[in-house]
Amino acid sequence: MQTTRFKPLFNLVAINKEFIRTVAVSSTAVKPDANLKSWREIPGPSSLPIIGQMLHFMPGGSLQGIEGVDGTMKLFDLYGPIVRFDSMLGKEPMVLLKDPESCEYILRSENWMPIRPGFMSLKYYRTEYKRSKGHTVHATGLVTDQGDVWKEFRSTVNPVMLQPKTIKLYATVLDEVAQDMIKRMKANRDEKNMITKDFDKEMNLWALESIGTVALGCRLNCFDPKLPADSPEWQLIQCVHDLFVIANELDFKPSFWRWFATPTFKKAMKLYEHHEDLTKHFIKKGKEQLKNKSDQEKGVLGKLLEINEEVAHIMASDMLFAGVDTAANTVTATLYLLAKNPEKQAKLREEIMSNSERRPYLRACIKESMRVMPVVSGNARKTTKTYNILGYEVPKDVDVVFAHREMSLMDKHYPRANEYIPERWLAKKGDPLYYGDTHPFVYGPFGFGARSCIGRRIAELEMDTFVARLIENFQVDWFGPPPKTVQQALNYIKGPYNFVFKDIK
Ligand code: HEM
Repeated sequence: MQTTRFKPLFNLVAINKEFIRTVAVSSTAVKPDANLKSWREIPGPSSLPIIGQMLHFMPGGSLQGIEGVDGTMKLFDLYGPIVRFDSMLGKEPMVLLKDPESCEYILRSENWMPIRPGFMSLKYYRTEYKRSKGHTVHATGLVTDQGDVWKEFRSTVNPVMLQPKTIKLYATVLDEVAQDMIKRMKANRDEKNMITKDFDKEMNLWALESIGTVALGCRLNCFDPKLPADSPEWQLIQCVHDLFVIANELDFKPSFWRWFATPTFKKAMKLYEHHEDLTKHFIKKGKEQLKNKSDQEKGVLGKLLEINEEVAHIMASDMLFAGVDTAANTVTATLYLLAKNPEKQAKLREEIMSNSERRPYLRACIKESMRVMPVVSGNARKTTKTYNILGYEVPKDVDVVFAHREMSLMDKHYPRANEYIPERWLAKKGDPLYYGDTHPFVYGPFGFGARSCIGRRIAELEMDTFVARLIENFQVDWFGPPPKTVQQALNYIKGPYNFVFKDIK
């Protein structure tokens, strides 16, 4: 197994410098090994040329309808910690991994110029499709670019989007957004203190107002009760959601679009264009309000415009895409888990009401919901060389998917893994719950390394601020069965939303 062979190297360089570790591992090539089992020997469903293993997932197939945590776990039960999927209708070959050491090995080795697969149809729209309409295309953004173009883009935006002191500047305005949303929720409750109609869209509205404020440096006014159903704000919310759903169909599943323009593909091109037009509308609004703003008041757009106009526009647009459903579903998961665990909710309220500047339990509550009900199931990298993974050869150009959600729900990694225990993130060494005893590559809600989520710090600040205001204002209860989670490109928590929001006296 690769981890045995390379372990001495890991230990040698693990002294402390992650950078050295990454470079040292990535420069290592797999030597020919007679004992190494071939790609074809990696366990997985049986396969046919061109359509790969598709038959298994079709009606009557042995794996038909498997989805979510149970579906992925079933695959691991059937085939072991590494599962092979051959190329299916042009979709790249893939392995699914639930061995944290192997995940660490690949993620670190691929950390110099990481390639994250996915969103190919969006990439197609932003390059080929736009070129066919006469546009000149250079960079397309962090979600879709790879290689040097991605690296240059990322180096430009990192200081503006990841520096804690820069992010802190948004704390006040994000708190205003949170308080306005609480007012809206109070006004929208019915006589049973419930918000049953479109609760998911309400959370998206909060997320759009929050990320819009940071991205553009101005309030979008999404909470205006007179906002028409066909307003750009509501259209954008619907569009972002549809975008993730259609990308899931085209890019995360086998599809014929790689050969010819299927109806779904044509729909996707229109949707991507619509998203671009909508974001242009918001960027224009942000730019109009830029004049007379101090550096402190400028959003990401204003700050990046001083560095590179093209990067500024693309980044603002991608924030309005990547920062809405992600944050909204994480808050919904946290509310549900706190409602189901009233003693944790009471403990959190106590911390919030103490008005202390440090709120470690709040952070722990959100971290724990991202472990138990993460919005992103896993992460992925395309290999740029051959690997020895668990004794098997994983060649170059394979998509490796790291099953963080499933690993995080195993008692082997986190004691009482299916329980919501925020205390595990605060437990001291020696405590059986101490998170530091778990392999660090089991849990990875924001991805890893140079390519990890650029919106992480912004998302954390938004979610901390809003959850604190929610728990300060409401006793949150839930009745009835748990909500259903539907796995698309993201994990969506679906209604009915049986939350009850009682005022805190
Ligand atoms: C709870 C909220 C969020 C979660 C769980 C999340 C999760 C992730 C994950 C797992 C990745 C892939 C990282 C990797 O490949 O290693 C990612 C990438 C990304 N996220 Fe987030 N995200 C969240 C919020 C946001 C927000 C608010 C923004 C807006 C600024 C954002 C923008 C992005 C972008 C642009 C990338 C691509 C980065 C790159 O490839 O360089 N995300 N996110």
